[in-house]
Amino acid sequence: MRPLIVIGNWKMNGSLASNERWIKAVCKGMEQGMPAGRQFAVCPSTPYLAQCSALIQKCSLAFMSLGAQDVSPHVSGAYTGEVSASMLKELACSYVIVGHSERRQMHHETDELIAEKALQALDHGITPVICVGESFDERNSGRAVEVVRSQIAKQVTVLQDRLADCLIAYEPLWAIGTGKVASAELAQDMHRAIRLQLAEFDEDVASHVGILYGGSVKPDNAVELFAMPDIDGGLIGGASLSPQDFLAICQA
Ligand code: 13P
Repeated sequence: MRPLIVIGNWKMNGSLASNERWIKAVCKGMEQGMPAGRQFAVCPSTPYLAQCSALIQKCSLAFMSLGAQDVSPHVSGAYTGEVSASMLKELACSYVIVGHSERRQMHHETDELIAEKALQALDHGITPVICVGESFDERNSGRAVEVVRSQIAKQVTVLQDRLADCLIAYEPLWAIGTGKVASAELAQDMHRAIRLQLAEFDEDVASHVGILYGGSVKPDNAVELFAMPDIDGGLIGGASLSPQDFLAICQA
């Protein structure tokens, strides 16, 4: 049985004051009771990881943890601006997002680079959240499954059965930050396609991997999405900035 996992991706938002308010409010809300067997995490911008790590550790809820938004594919050395997996581990990060479409588009990240980042995370005991998804044009031209299959195929080639320790996030680009959520049926169809593709490689891996949905998830659509058999949780952008909305989605 795969646990339901809800991860907030704050992207380039937050401040020392607002982060503290958010974590205190969310921890307080969670202490009042959350559905059993779920895992939650929040991914702040890199400069805030140490602050958020300390605050999350202080509220000591076994099911609430910290994640990062990116990681270097390198171990250490002359890579100005990069952050290594060992640094994230020291800050008690449990997850790291790799290959978010914003990084694929704006920073020209390739599937190969994304797999290298995922390997670094795995080597340091951090769960990579590997993002895949098609653009509006790719969906409209009937190539959505083909595009996502090719993104996943590269991960299978590099990561092999270590994929069992990863999460995949299906985030259709046309649904990110647009308010245009994929219908639960459309998302389920793609999640199913991803799981079947993984099963072509290894049935065990396919049944273990959590596949999260991301793209305009809100408290009012989360219930329907999370009820789908192949949707194992969500990667939440805009709505995760509000502690109330994040808590409501975690409870969905
Ligand atoms: P929104 O929830 O704002 O659409 O963002 C989704 C996302 O990109 C999460 O990584």
